[in-house]
Amino acid sequence: MKVAVFNTQAGEEAALRELLPGHELSFFTEPLSLESAPGAAGCEAVSVFIGSQVTAQVIDALPALKCIATRSTGFDHIDLGHAKEKGVVVCTVPSYGSRTVAEFTFGLMLNLSRKIFQARLRLLEGARYVTDDLRGFDLHDKTLGVIGTGRIGKNVIAIAKAFGMEVIASDLYPDTAYAEAHGFAYTDIPGLLKRSDIVTLHAPATKETRHIINADNIMLMKQGAFLINTARGDLVETDALVRALTSGHLGGVGLDVLEGEDDLREEAELLAYKPERIKDFKTLYENHLLMDHPNAILTPHVAFDTDEAVHEILATTADNINSFARGVPKNALT
Ligand code: NAI
Repeated sequence: MKVAVFNTQAGEEAALRELLPGHELSFFTEPLSLESAPGAAGCEAVSVFIGSQVTAQVIDALPALKCIATRSTGFDHIDLGHAKEKGVVVCTVPSYGSRTVAEFTFGLMLNLSRKIFQARLRLLEGARYVTDDLRGFDLHDKTLGVIGTGRIGKNVIAIAKAFGMEVIASDLYPDTAYAEAHGFAYTDIPGLLKRSDIVTLHAPATKETRHIINADNIMLMKQGAFLINTARGDLVETDALVRALTSGHLGGVGLDVLEGEDDLREEAELLAYKPERIKDFKTLYENHLLMDHPNAILTPHVAFDTDEAVHEILATTADNINSFARGVPKNALT
């Protein structure tokens, strides 16, 4: 099968060549887009990562395309409806990095609760061993609110329990047997926001989860509470978040994902000003405000990025492509 792989990073080409013998492969470091689509001309399969926007136009630009193998769990960067209409199968990597993202979530949490990043800055700034205002707090006995108790959320809960935290959770489909076995209770989102010292998001980006944390409910969070987002930027209304943080209502935010994060990758593209993109400018500006805020720790969507998780991603992606080529698609979205 002719396969084009986009968004490749160091080492991925060699690994995929080994995992995909017998296919005609081409590799591109750039994302799949209307501009880069000609590189995949005649390909029956493409593999992309979250930086690729696989829009209806991109799909239409590749008439031979039959399979999109995304090297991610999330698929909000792909026009799934249009892919289905065109008979293009979309395969994902359903379970990579569940432990990986959960561990990173605690990395952000501990950075905020123990001011690790500020402490390091203190030394870099030359103010050696001045520890005023670096006092933090223990996670033990604090209440963690987990929104989304799927694979990652459940690993977060397991780690939280090991820290001795109280856990409450919210999910469209509560796993009550799991909750009973692991000693936590489900509640609705307003109830969770009111009771949690730290709220962490692990739900996918869907129409229903867009701005699940918004101007109407963010002030329900406790004074000084933390918000952690390692799921998708769209879950949080950036405007509301900036207000809650800069007013001091929230004590800290840890964000691996941002609304409009693609615009941060290619800020210059926004200079091709289109009036309908004025809101994107605002979000871009607000993202910079968040980056500069002393009580915010932002990372560039790297929660998944460990040797173990990337190995799992590549192995599953290759298996998805090989299975599709054999006529028995795996991990296909229906
Ligand atoms: P999962 O599918 O196992 O779990 C998602 C959970 O969210 C499910 O229990 C589902 O019922 C729940 N949910 C769906 N809609 C909801 C709503 N409206 N309110 C409350 N709960 C809702 O997914 P998994 O593997 O745990 O991943 C979660 C998300 O994490 C992914 O969708 C992806 O966007 C993100 N992710 C981020 C990574 C990063 O590098 N930052 C890496 C991998 C995943």
